[in-house]
Amino acid sequence: MWTNAKNAALRERAARVIPGGMYGHMSTGLLPKEYPQFFARGKGCRIWDVDGNEYVDFMSAFGPNLLGYCDAGIDAAAQQQQALGDALNGPGEVMVELAEQFVDTVSHADWAMFCKNGTDATTMAMVVARAHTGRPIILAAEGAYHGAAPWCVPKTRSTGTLPEERAHVVYYSYNDAQSLTDAFRKHEGRIAAVFATPFRHEVFSDQHDPDLEYATAARRLCDESGALLVIDDVRAGFRLARDCSWSRIGIAPDLSCWGKCFANGYPISALLGSDHVRAAAAKIFVTGSFWFAAVAMAAGVATLRRIKETDYLERMQATGQQLRDGLADRAKAHGFSLRQTGPVVMPQILFNDDPDFRLGYAWTAECLKQGAFFHPYHNMFICAAHTAADVDAGIAAADRAFEAVRRKRGDIQPVPQLSHLFKTLADA
Ligand SMILES: Cc1ncc(COP(=O)(O)O)c(C=O)c1O
Repeated sequence: MWTNAKNAALRERAARVIPGGMYGHMSTGLLPKEYPQFFARGKGCRIWDVDGNEYVDFMSAFGPNLLGYCDAGIDAAAQQQQALGDALNGPGEVMVELAEQFVDTVSHADWAMFCKNGTDATTMAMVVARAHTGRPIILAAEGAYHGAAPWCVPKTRSTGTLPEERAHVVYYSYNDAQSLTDAFRKHEGRIAAVFATPFRHEVFSDQHDPDLEYATAARRLCDESGALLVIDDVRAGFRLARDCSWSRIGIAPDLSCWGKCFANGYPISALLGSDHVRAAAAKIFVTGSFWFAAVAMAAGVATLRRIKETDYLERMQATGQQLRDGLADRAKAHGFSLRQTGPVVMPQILFNDDPDFRLGYAWTAECLKQGAFFHPYHNMFICAAHTAADVDAGIAAADRAFEAVRRKRGDIQPVPQLSHLFKTLADA
């Protein structure tokens, strides 16, 4: 029997000692009230919250879980390094090995630098681009997420930061070659870099593949002007390709940012670059107390080996497709119609005829009670530990949830926390 008493008690304790009770992208503040905030453990594609409820998980820790939680092989590599030491007076041989592995795996990359979170990697890309070009402006797509530093924090969440900190970030429209061309014309000679995510993956929105005309224009405009093309692969890296994600459309960036999953959940991120940017990358000062710690690097080496040597990607594509087909079928059987957009390994699942998201919220809350963890407004992540049987279990839970929502459809109320959010967005 699903219960959330322990989570509720922990929330109360947290509210006393943690500002807001929780913060950042893992805060459940915008989610249905049933969502657990606190978790006890994970194994494979399953998670258990602190109340002991077990879920087939389709969020994968917002990306880091690529091969399965507590993967035995990756954990063994990490523990072996842990026994020798983690943060020492300098990096171990493993740092060189990891950089070699990346250069060997990602076709545009000739070098690698490591840090801890995706925001470190995107911020480092910005600094390298400015050092390389001597120019100030970063072009970023309106609404794209590149992290939570003052220069890139979403405008609606920018309390405590200054407009001046974003003064040299200019926004263009993703998939709109003309808006890029216009920006290059308007800021001629002042653009250091164009940032692009591999595809459009914003919250509360359908996902969109990159348009080839747009991607080609980005590469050409950078080449003509000497600006750098930066692919932010922090979210999608190694879930679309065993290479930079834009290798799938034949476009090589100058820099690419990586994070989340390349050490299967161990804390590490990376900036990769091409040879002609190496000198600038060698000049900047970037560092952190834990950036050179060896355990996450050992996990990274083991994960990259698995990425190169196994069919993890093809298996994720198959289970992702199975999930998409199964959910579409079950939704239809109960009179609902879904918009499932983006790559099948990173699905965004929204309901048609649900402008204020109340159906999606009701359905995902019911899914929890039925044993499956989906998300009502953020893209999700298949992991390589999902088997066909796990996905079937997720679809069966979703089926029961569709039935529960169908029965109460007329009585479902608007979501108060979203009404507030949409008003803030409209006012912004
Ligand atoms: C595309 C993209 N870039 C950068 C980041 C920032 O990564 P982190 O939260 O590890 O700092 C994220 C995080 O979700 C992301 O999705």
